[in-house]
Amino acid sequence: MDKIIVEGGRPLAGNVKISGAKNAALPMLISSLLADGTSTFTNVPDLMDIKSTSLLLSHLGAQVETCEDTVRISAGDLTQFEAPYDLVRKMRASVLVLGPLVARLGRARVSLPGGCAIGARPINLHLKGLAALGASIDLKHGYVEATAGRLKGADIYFDVVTVTGTENLMMAAALAEGTTVLRNAAREPEIEALADNLIKMGADIEGAGTSIITINGVAALNPVAATIMPDRIEAGTFMMAAVLTRGEVTLLNCEPDHVGALIDKLRLAGAEIEIGDKSIQVKGHQNITSVDIKTQPYPGFPTDMQAQFMVLMSVADSTSTISETIFENRFIHVSELKRMGADIQVSGNIAIVKGVPHLSAAQVMATDLRASASLILAGLVAQGKTEVNRVYHLDRGYQSIEKKYSALNATIQRVK
Ligand code: EPZ
Repeated sequence: MDKIIVEGGRPLAGNVKISGAKNAALPMLISSLLADGTSTFTNVPDLMDIKSTSLLLSHLGAQVETCEDTVRISAGDLTQFEAPYDLVRKMRASVLVLGPLVARLGRARVSLPGGCAIGARPINLHLKGLAALGASIDLKHGYVEATAGRLKGADIYFDVVTVTGTENLMMAAALAEGTTVLRNAAREPEIEALADNLIKMGADIEGAGTSIITINGVAALNPVAATIMPDRIEAGTFMMAAVLTRGEVTLLNCEPDHVGALIDKLRLAGAEIEIGDKSIQVKGHQNITSVDIKTQPYPGFPTDMQAQFMVLMSVADSTSTISETIFENRFIHVSELKRMGADIQVSGNIAIVKGVPHLSAAQVMATDLRASASLILAGLVAQGKTEVNRVYHLDRGYQSIEKKYSALNATIQRVK
């Protein structure tokens, strides 16, 4: 297993190009299942999760070709409707094939994804929505078995805001007969990107990006040519790295509108932030002011940036409160940060972070994607050499992260 060794103390400096968004690419690639023909996606990030998605789509019978950042998918004759356990357990987002398969083939057999490090991650709302559209749902031997004739539009209320739940049902409803309304829908930019993608395919969707999305089903959809939007979570991670190392970094090819909540909090923490059309310049100063955050569905402060922000607060000038309201177990990084000298007390979904003058390097273990990103951040400011193990978690969501940090003057290397 690879590990990453990072030596602290060097302010980051320079430009970094933000890659395509993992959480936009996954549903968009999967939406190609809805159409007969070849869809083309560009600016696709080179990540383990993208490889897993390509494997899954090929397993279903689609032809998948990847050339640099372009992925072509021909879903003309799907031969399978099953997403097996060994593929789904590697990537929970595989459940996104449920909606398209039921809509296109009238059946799907998808392994229940099971929990992960950050929480139980149920998909009950995905299934409740599919049932409302007329699918019959059976849970057998750890699999979801869904069958349907032509799906029928329905009025669906999410009692919890769910990103992939909204995506799954938007894709299923696109081919249903009649109108579907999704209420309390997720408003993330990735939802809007998927809706734009489906509209280009011929879908009739209004309200994506708001909490009420109306989908008028159509008989068939056409293949699409689409570009993946920049990754707001990668952008946020590099913004925090710039502030943390008291450096000056310009992010290129990013969407400032997608990181508004973070810009607000980083300015309160004392960072200087200049916003361009597709760029953000972030300058850190010696003192970091403690700031409270509470994770919320978009446009609130994203849960995927919570671990990274906690590292920033662990070397801030007083005490901050971090509330994690989305996932029930997303403080796994706390114990590793405490081994590096952070002063953090957790009770329930609240972490009290008391700033310390500096962190000290240690051998640490990555547990989930964003927690591992936070350990790299800690290593960038800790005194000494930090060794982050199990970096395969990182490779799921960050494209060649050590190369991007090296190009920003960090002392960092990957060791096989
Ligand atoms: C998406 O996960 C993202 N993944 C996650 O990013 C992100 O953390 C999360 O949204 C929240 O923003 C992708 O887009 C591939 P949810 P998702 O359904 O859709 C509960 C990363 O690091 N819930 O919005 O699985 C659930 O337990 C990943 O890139 C139900 O109760 O998250 C959670 O508490 C990590 N029933 C809350 O809703 C359901 O049927 C939000 O989950 C579905 C969800």
